[in-house]
Amino acid sequence: MNFADSEVIAAILTKAGYGIGESAEEADFILINTCAIRDNAEQRVRHRVRELKAMQNRRPGLRIGVLGCMAERLQSRLMTEEENVSFVCGPDAYRRLPEMLAQVRRNEELRIKNEELAAVELSATETYADIEPVRLAGNGISAYISIMRGCQNYCAYCVVPYTRGRERSRDPETIVREARTLFEQGYREVTLLGQNVNSYEWIVESGKWKVGFPELMERVAEIDPRLRVRFATSHPKDLSDKLLEVMAKYPNICRCIHLPVQSGSNRMLKLMNRKYTVEWYLDRVAAIRRAMPDCSITTDVIAGFSTETLEDHEATLDLFRKVRYDYAYMFKYSLREGTYAWKHLADDIAEEEKTRRLNEIIALQGEIALENNRLEVGKEYEVLVEGESHRSKEQLFGRNSQNKVIVFDKGDAVPGTYRRLRVEKCTAATLIGALVQ
Ligand code: 5AD
Ligand code: SF4
Repeated sequence: MNFADSEVIAAILTKAGYGIGESAEEADFILINTCAIRDNAEQRVRHRVRELKAMQNRRPGLRIGVLGCMAERLQSRLMTEEENVSFVCGPDAYRRLPEMLAQVRRNEELRIKNEELAAVELSATETYADIEPVRLAGNGISAYISIMRGCQNYCAYCVVPYTRGRERSRDPETIVREARTLFEQGYREVTLLGQNVNSYEWIVESGKWKVGFPELMERVAEIDPRLRVRFATSHPKDLSDKLLEVMAKYPNICRCIHLPVQSGSNRMLKLMNRKYTVEWYLDRVAAIRRAMPDCSITTDVIAGFSTETLEDHEATLDLFRKVRYDYAYMFKYSLREGTYAWKHLADDIAEEEKTRRLNEIIALQGEIALENNRLEVGKEYEVLVEGESHRSKEQLFGRNSQNKVIVFDKGDAVPGTYRRLRVEKCTAATLIGALVQ
C-alpha cells in the first residue's frame, strides 16, 4: 500500500514541477514514506532519519519530510523527537505536499525557522482516484492499483484504523481505466490493493445498483486475458463464495489468496476482535480448495498476543499443519499506542517467549513450504517472466499463477512475456525450472 501511495505522491509532486532525484545525494527534499504497524518498522525509520544528519550537515539546504502512517500517528511530536525532520504529512493529505514544500522553501529564504508543518487530517472521501500514479522503480510488467483506503475493522492490536482512517472505495471506472492504461503500456499484471478488498463497494445509483469486489474483479479481468489480476488483502470474515466463483471463471485471475489468520485459537481470535472462528476460517479454506484445487493460500500470523497461553500457541501450530500455507508472514506481537489492546489488554508475554513461539512457527512453516515445493517438482506452469534472477545473469525468473517464483535458464525467453516451464528442483523458497519449448 505504501509503495502504491509513493507513486501517487510522485504524481502529485511531478505535476507541481518537482522531479525525482537519481540519488539522495542530489535531492533538495527527501520524503520518507512510513509504516507504523509494528514498533520495529518505526525504529528503522528513526534510524534512517538520524543517518541523514551527516548528509544534512554537508548540505544545509536538504530538507526531510516524513509521510504516511508514522506521520499520522505521531503528528508534530515526530518533529520534536527528530529535530532534523522539517514536516510531516499523513496518508490523506498528500495533495497538500506542493504547498508544504513551497512553505518550507519560503521559510528557508526568509531565514525563519520552520514552523511546525504537519498535515495530518484524515478524510472520509479521499481516494486519489483522479491521480495517475508515476510508476517508481517498477519493472514495467507488474503494477499495484489501490482500490480503496482505510480500515474500520478495529482488530484489537492494530493501529491502521487510526493512521489510515475510515474505509472508502474508489470509483470503479477510474480503477478499470488505470488497469487498461497499464495493459496498453505493456504491463501484464496488476495487483488490486486494499486493507480489506472484500468490503469494496461503490454505489452507482443510490439504493439501486452497486459494484462489489467480485464485480470489480470481473471488470478488470475482462480487459484482456493476457492481463493477470491479483489482489490483497482478504479479511477471512467476508471472503464470499461469489468471489471464488468469479476467480474460478477467469484463468487470468491468479490462483492465490492471502488470508491472514492471525491466530489458530478461538480465544485469541475473539480477544483480537477478528470476528471469525477457526472453524469459519477452515470452512473458507475448504471453499477455496473446492472452487480452485490449485489455489495457493498465504497468511499473516501474530505470536505472543495478550494472554496467549502455550495451548493457544499450539492451536496456531495445529492450524498451520492443517492448512499447509504456501507462504506466511509471521510476526511477534507489538503493542501499539491508541489501540484497544493498548487501552485494555496487557502485553504480558515476555519478549524471549514471543521470540521462541515465533521461531517455532517459522520452523514449522519452513518444513511445510519445503514439502509443498517438493510436490511441485515435475509439474508444468505458465509463468510471467519478470527479469533476471538475482543469482545469475544467465537465468531469469518469473511467477506462476500461484505467485511462486520459478528460476530458469534464460534460453530465448524475454521479460514481460508468458512462457511454459517445467519444475525440476526446489528449495523451501524457490522453484527451479526449465523452459518447455
Ligand atoms: N503486532 C504484530 N503484528 C501486527 N500486525 C498488525 N498489527 C500488529 C501488531 N500490533 C500484522 C498482522 C497484519 C499484518 C499486516 O501485520 O498480522 O495482518
Ligand atoms: Fe488492521 Fe484488522 Fe484492519 Fe487488517 S483488518 S488493517 S489487521 S484493523
